[in-house]
Amino acid sequence: MSRADSRPSRRAFVRATGAVAATGLAAGCETPAARPGRPPSAPPGTGVTPTGRHQAGITLPQPAQSNLLAVVADLDEAAAPGPLLADLGNLVRTLTAGADPRLLGLPPGDLTVTIGVGPRLVRTAGAALPGAADLPGYSREEMARQARGGDLLLQICAGDALLLPVVASALLAQAGDRVRERWRQSGQRGPVTTVGHGVSAPRNLLGFVDGIVGPHTTAERRRHLWLSGPAPVAGGTIAVVRRMEIDLPRFAALSVADQEAALGRRRATAAPLSGGTAASDPDLGAKTPDGRYLVPADSHVRRANPRAVGVGLMLRRSYSIDQPAPGLLFISFQNDLRTFTRTLAHMEGSDALLRYTTTTAGATFLVLPGFDEQLPLGARLFA
Ligand code: HEM
Repeated sequence: MSRADSRPSRRAFVRATGAVAATGLAAGCETPAARPGRPPSAPPGTGVTPTGRHQAGITLPQPAQSNLLAVVADLDEAAAPGPLLADLGNLVRTLTAGADPRLLGLPPGDLTVTIGVGPRLVRTAGAALPGAADLPGYSREEMARQARGGDLLLQICAGDALLLPVVASALLAQAGDRVRERWRQSGQRGPVTTVGHGVSAPRNLLGFVDGIVGPHTTAERRRHLWLSGPAPVAGGTIAVVRRMEIDLPRFAALSVADQEAALGRRRATAAPLSGGTAASDPDLGAKTPDGRYLVPADSHVRRANPRAVGVGLMLRRSYSIDQPAPGLLFISFQNDLRTFTRTLAHMEGSDALLRYTTTTAGATFLVLPGFDEQLPLGARLFA
């Protein structure tokens, strides 16, 4: 794929740099909030707008905040999704504006809350809608019943980790006995590496830069990320969330060359093993003089490569985790669940990285289209 025509549009760039300036997360960028003695998050009024065509917390802010808490809950059989989602959307607006007493005076800064509904709820609105299909089971899963699926996703992200449980508590209190929590997971991201062409991504706890390949331009996002229809879901997307625990001691015992062979990129520079820079696409055809692939046959970037799989791009926005074990809360957004399912099917059995993982929680959600004061969250789906 040529990168020359894949630069973000000026609008996307202005939006992204605006968000970076607002959060003070850009390298060397000191906002008043970043000075010693000030709260760690940006002051009220400079946060990420929660309303609009798409929910925040997917492409914005850029780069993503360093802390995440995902809460997965079930909806009580007797509770109507429409009023619940409208309540939650209203609360997201007041929380992100710093105008809700349940924030206990904490500045919201770059807080985002992204809300999705699980397949069971989507099916009540239409069996053929995007988001109505359950995630299939895969090998290397050890999931308690409680940790598979769920009706409601609350993805809460912020630069200030202290906000996360406070915001989760406010949202769950608002939902009251209409929801029952299933599982929750917190995660962190380190500082980002600038990859080039407007793309930056953090390292995961394997030490590799994670999140390079994805729909980063406006055109790619329109094509691969956002749902264009039908009307009740237009502007939404499909999320996959999987807690992947990693056998870190076993991976760390490999030589750097073997770690790189498992991933298919250099650990220090993120360049593909076929050469170039971090921004280069892996050249899957490139071989050594003795006929071996430079990007090994079982390497992760080859097995997951969208062209090799024959699917579109997924936006990966994963967070590293430490509890209950070290690993990755893998999060991807795409406008077709098959982008994920076909990729994982292609990885299964032959992806060298996958051999170090055990997946202990997983679910898919329809991330609802954006909302505002006039159009409550979920209103087009659950009238
Ligand atoms: C513990 C689990 C995982 C880790 C640590 C991990 C890490 C990485 C890293 C470091 C890269 C290379 C840089 C980049 O493009 O971001 C990568 C690429 C990628 N990963 Fe993963 N990943 C994991 C699981 C998954 C899963 C479950 C999927 C989807 C089913 C996936 C899909 C992809 C895709 C599509 C790419 C881009 C491949 C390319 O075209 O070069 N990953 N991953």
